[in-house]
Amino acid sequence: MRTPFIGGNWKMNLSLAEAAQFIDEIQTELPPSSEVETVLAASPLFLQTMQEHNHSPLLVAAENCFYEDEGAYTGEVSPKALSEMGIKYSIVGHSERRKYFHETDEIVNKKVHAVYRNHMLPIICCDETMGRYEIGDHISWMVNQVTAAIRGLDADDVKKAVVAYEPSWAIGTGHTAPADAAEEGCYLIRQTIADIYSDQIANQVRILYGGSVNHENIRELMKQPDIDGVLAGKASLTTDEFTKLANFN
Ligand code: G3H
Repeated sequence: MRTPFIGGNWKMNLSLAEAAQFIDEIQTELPPSSEVETVLAASPLFLQTMQEHNHSPLLVAAENCFYEDEGAYTGEVSPKALSEMGIKYSIVGHSERRKYFHETDEIVNKKVHAVYRNHMLPIICCDETMGRYEIGDHISWMVNQVTAAIRGLDADDVKKAVVAYEPSWAIGTGHTAPADAAEEGCYLIRQTIADIYSDQIANQVRILYGGSVNHENIRELMKQPDIDGVLAGKASLTTDEFTKLANFN
């Protein structure tokens, strides 16, 4: 039985004051963590304040971190420092990081290892373009991405990972993937993990869909057998919408 995972990714939005107000407002609106795990990823500049304001089941997460713990890496976010702050999850390999910051599969894999080394868990994002989808090339693209991201992990670590299927053609467009296409992507991720490890391990991994999720389409997505949750961008920016996502059932 996989606990549903409702994640938000604020990206580079909101102000510090708005972040604090958001956490204050949402306190009493979230389901217990035994029913739904709610996670909100934000700028590292906001995390301390969000942690201080948070007295709810919500878990505050990082949107990214570096693959080294410390050193001469000006401007980078240390996974060790995140862990010291009590952060449990970091997104790794979001398509915007791959696109704008040239993160390769190899870098994503190093970041995944850094997250585990610092006693956190990764939310590993796998993307896919419409061009690949249309020519049917998306399957090998996705398999390669997942395989590279989890390379070298122990089975005990992999089963605790969260992996998100986020087709670039649905992100920020207002047009979510049809539920069967979202299921196909998530199923593919689970089968890839099963092929490398086992069905038993793959069946413990939580797999998310991300791309224009909102309170109107979440129920249909969550009915799919391989979709255990969502990673919402725009819909996580208001307490009203995020509360509705968290209480989808
Ligand atoms: O990480 C979240 C995704 O990029 C989805 O963003 O819900 O605004 O399409 P979106």
